[in-house]
This record gives sequence, structure tokens and C-alpha cells, in this order.
Amino acid sequence: MSQMLQERYARSLMNTFGPPRLVLTKGEGVYVWDAEGNRYLDLLGGIAVNALGHAHPALVSAVTDQLGTLGHVSNFFTTVPQIVLAERLLELLAVEGKVFFTNSGSEANEAAFKLTRRTGRTHVVAAAGSFHGRTMGSLALTSKPAYREPFEPLPGDVTFVPFGDANALAGAVTDRTAAVVLEPVQGEAGVVVPPRNYLARARDITTAHGALLWLDEVQTGMGRTGAWFAHTDSGVTPDLVTLAKGLGGGIPVGACIGIGEHGDLLHPGQHGTTFGGNPVSAAASLAVIETIERDGLLHNARRVGAHLARGLRHRHVTAVRQRGLLIGLDLDADVAPQVAATAHGSGIIINDCAPHRIRLAPPLVLTTDQADELLDSWADILEAAYAATEGPHR
Ligand SMILES: Cc1ncc(COP(=O)(O)O)c(C=O)c1O
Repeated sequence: MSQMLQERYARSLMNTFGPPRLVLTKGEGVYVWDAEGNRYLDLLGGIAVNALGHAHPALVSAVTDQLGTLGHVSNFFTTVPQIVLAERLLELLAVEGKVFFTNSGSEANEAAFKLTRRTGRTHVVAAAGSFHGRTMGSLALTSKPAYREPFEPLPGDVTFVPFGDANALAGAVTDRTAAVVLEPVQGEAGVVVPPRNYLARARDITTAHGALLWLDEVQTGMGRTGAWFAHTDSGVTPDLVTLAKGLGGGIPVGACIGIGEHGDLLHPGQHGTTFGGNPVSAAASLAVIETIERDGLLHNARRVGAHLARGLRHRHVTAVRQRGLLIGLDLDADVAPQVAATAHGSGIIINDCAPHRIRLAPPLVLTTDQADELLDSWADILEAAYAATEGPHR
């Protein structure tokens, strides 16, 4: 069954992602099933998206009820869920400001990038190792050469500096810099955590030069790191925040949030979207927020994340980086693809985000017992993957 579907996929879909690893047909909680009926523990959660897991009743009923009431209206009009969601996001950020809704993280960053142009400046500073998306604008802020080079020239005047190095940032930001864009924790790079005072230094540097501090919380936001936002404990108030992924719990929605007067930089006609802010995705987001609050999922993310991080230590694991349920680990050889494949074979989905790096971003509803399904077989998975490869040791 899966093989036939894989062949149909190869014939009818663009080969942008490589061959799919599985054909999935059903999900419930933290589990998904493939076309043969095999069950998998999903520790990737649609890459930090399925905050409530799969088919969560609160999300299903919010979307169903809203679609049965009012599904789409265009941005000539507004709806109650859209307004309430904007208010809730500003409340969670504890700021005054304005929200522009999108359908994805790339679009949220695209909106923010356009907004920075309204400062009258064009220079943007981004970080090496960054990932901000695949549209031409968000790609211009993404550092990986393999993603960028086939599409150059990219828009903008972007300088990349080493991530986590505040002195390098200070050296790159000038009075002609419109914005500094940073992930508070770099997700795609493998959960790279900067030094403790990095965001505070970035705030000071941008303020000194009249540049905007733009935090891309597309992957880290909405509870993923055990707080509503990964920058919360830095004490920093940014000027722009972008969100997506977990925001809709699996329904496409993103947000570009302008804090204080920066929420007023885009004027009528300067940006737009057909689907962004539609009531169904807004209702989905509201259900996600309500469920995270009601079920104490921020606390759960911290608790289960710490449990996983402790249990993932192994002689082949040289580093574990954990913020809530966003976990990256380094292996002592370039065998991450084999480790991920071995885990898949054992009914567990994990992600190899670099040749020697594994990432976990499971649903925030994951329990310690469910996490133990990985931990109980972790040593066997590693040993089997290493035995099957002659990976070059680091
Ligand atoms: C930090 C960050 N920004 C932006 C994006 C792009 O989001 P999307 O794939 O929804 O366009 C991602 C996706 O992985 C991300 O991790």
C-alpha cells in the first residue's frame, strides 16, 4: 500500500522534499499510523506544530464549529475570532501593539521584512545558522548557502553575524540598520541556545542605533520552550515578533506582531493576504491557547522536556540542548540519518536536522510514560544505527 502511494507521490508531486519517509493515514494524541496500520510515537509533532497532538477534541470542535458558522470572509471584513486572537496574543506578550495574520512562518517574516522597510532603512542583520523561511524575502534572511544560492540574487541588504556573539552583532549594526532578526533559540540549526545575556545585548545594540529588534518565534513560540515565548525570561521587549507553527496546532496560521508604535508602520494597501486571519484558523489558535492554559501544558513541556533530556544521555551523545519540549542533541559521528531511520523502524519519529544532530519537538501533551517509549529503546537504537554504519567520528 505505502509503496504504491509512494510511487504515485513520485509521479505527481514536485520533488522538493525528497521521498517521503512514511505514508501516514491517521493520528491520535501523540501517535500516528502509516498506511499498513503501523503505529508511531510522534516526537516531531509536524516540526513543532502539533502542540496538542493529533485530532485533539478541543481543536477539532473549534474548527468544526467555526467552519459550520462562518468559514471565510476576506479582509474587507473582520470576524470575532480574529479580533479576540489578536487581543490574546498581545496579552500573552504583555505588550501594546498590532497584529498582522498570515498562513505560515515565511509569510509572517515576509510581512515583518516589509514592515522594516517602513523605517526608511534597508540594512538587516541576521545570524549564521538562521532559518526564517523559503519565500524570497525570508530566504534572504536565512543563512544556509544550499537554500540561498540557487535563487540569488535575493532581495535586501543583509549581513550575517555569528549567532550568540554580541560583540559581532555590535560590530555589524550601524545607524543605517533597519532591524536585527534573531531566533531566540535557533530551531532548524539543531536547537542552538545563545549565551544568557545575548538578547539583552541585542536589545541594547538595536536601541542605540535606532534599529528594530525582531524576534522570530515561529518555532520557539506558543509554549514550545515551556514559556509562551522563548524570549520571555530574557526580560527583553522586542519591536517585532513573528509566530506560526504551534500557533494553530496544525491549522495554518502565522502572525507578525508590531510592538508599540511599530504596529502602525504598515498603512492601508501596503500589505495584504486573502486567507490570513480567517476565522477558522483564528478559532483553532484560540483553542490551542485555551487548552495550553487549561491543561498546564507550559509546565508539562518543562517537566517532560527535562525528563527526556536526562534520559537521552549516552556515550555517543556529546551534547543535549533542551528548552521545554524543543530538544537538540549532538552525536559523535555523522550518523543522525541512520539513527532517525532506526527509530522509525522501531515505531518512533525523530528528526535528523543535520548529519550529526537529532531534534525532538513533540506535542506539548506528551507524558513521561510516552517519552519513556523512546528512552527505553534509545541505547538500542543508537547501538543498532552505529553498528550499521561506519560514520566518520567527529
Ligand atoms: C524560526 C523559523 N522561522 C520561519 C520558518 C518558516 O515557517 P514556514 O515553514 O511556516 O513558512 C520556520 C520553519 O521551520 C522556522 O523554524
